[in-house]
Amino acid sequence: MATRTIITDEDPLLRKRSREVIEIDDRIREICADMVETLHATDNGIGLAAPQVGILKRIFVVDMYDDNGPIVFINPEIIEKKGKQRNQEGCLSVPGSWGEVERPARIKVRARNPHGELFEMEASELLATCICHENDHLDGVLFTDKVIGELVTE
Ligand code: NI
Repeated sequence: MATRTIITDEDPLLRKRSREVIEIDDRIREICADMVETLHATDNGIGLAAPQVGILKRIFVVDMYDDNGPIVFINPEIIEKKGKQRNQEGCLSVPGSWGEVERPARIKVRARNPHGELFEMEASELLATCICHENDHLDGVLFTDKVIGELVTE
């Protein structure tokens, strides 16, 4: 495993749409493991999407540092959205900036894990926000596109 370099918002790759993973093989599993290691090496990141390490594939990892541990989502789809919530968001690719974003209060997401198994998960609160934020990265969307009011920069 190795940590990968996180690219920042001036890099045009972050604006591209990522492609579906066709086959979950050892190479994909290595990318997933590297992404978890890269996320864990950050100061306070809770999610990282593959395009943020320069890989245009539909993969993201999330870790709320709770009993669930790191969760890897391959070819994720948000299949249900309910309600609304607002949270202060930041992004490892937009260092030093924060802003309030409105997201669904509860979601259901379907994805594959690194073993290729399909799973579904319900999420609310910060986890739901994080999953939606990471999923946006796969479509080239950054939280700064959705900030309500002012983007606060350090
Ligand atoms: Ni982000």
